[in-house]
Amino acid sequence: MPSKIILKPLQNILTDCKYTKKLLEQMLGEFFCERDKDIETFLHNKAVDYELSGISRTYLYIVSNQKSDIVDVAAYFSIALTSINLADASSNRRSKILGKTPGSGFKDDFGGVLIAQLGRNDAFVTSEVNGERIIADCELTIEKGRKWLGGRVAYLDCKKALVGYYERFGYRLLSDVPSDTGLYKMFKMLPKLVAA
Ligand SMILES: CC(C)(COP(=O)(O)OP(=O)(O)OC[C@H]1O[C@@H](n2cnc3c(N)ncnc32)[C@H](O)[C@@H]1OP(=O)(O)O)[C@@H](O)C(=O)NCCC(=O)NCCS
Repeated sequence: MPSKIILKPLQNILTDCKYTKKLLEQMLGEFFCERDKDIETFLHNKAVDYELSGISRTYLYIVSNQKSDIVDVAAYFSIALTSINLADASSNRRSKILGKTPGSGFKDDFGGVLIAQLGRNDAFVTSEVNGERIIADCELTIEKGRKWLGGRVAYLDCKKALVGYYERFGYRLLSDVPSDTGLYKMFKMLPKLVAA
């Protein structure tokens, strides 16, 4: 059977006895991302601890039907609950996020879901797994959580070079000024529920 790249929650891998600790370390340790070392080190050093402590949820694109025990991680994304400070957002972006809901006057902090990490392993190319697929799966996952928990905004932080890329998927800059880390915060309003 030809190999396919499938999406698997890290949670499922952690509870599957087939994946020993050593195997999992090897799998995650073979994910490399030269363009963004944070994406690489998060998977190597933090993803499992964050998963176990509930800080974030990570989803791996793994290659199915591999002959060896080691399964390649082609890409991944991690999401987490967050609260962001709206003080630096322009007034129209702030009112877009807060909306006209009663009681939603200006507050400094506003909750949402953070797309904390998102990236492809350097050993794979766009035609195998691209950002469009990753972002769509990420938003679908957020949507599933939102069905039970609510929420109206997705956020992400990115380098200047990727602002235009994310704009193609409907993300907008929260502020034209980068944060202290040099990253730009972007947001996307999630679809509203339409009453019957
Ligand atoms: C984000 C990603 C999954 C998108 O994959 P894709 O849809 O196949 O698109 P590409 O890899 O061709 O990237 C799209 C463009 O962004 C640029 N780009 C991607 N990651 C970049 C980075 N970390 N720094 C600077 N530019 C980057 C690419 O060079 C490309 O530019 P071009 O259109 O001028 O050629 C993939 O580029 C990736 O894994 N990048 C490294 C990790 C990363 O930066 N993640 C985002 C963190 S916010």
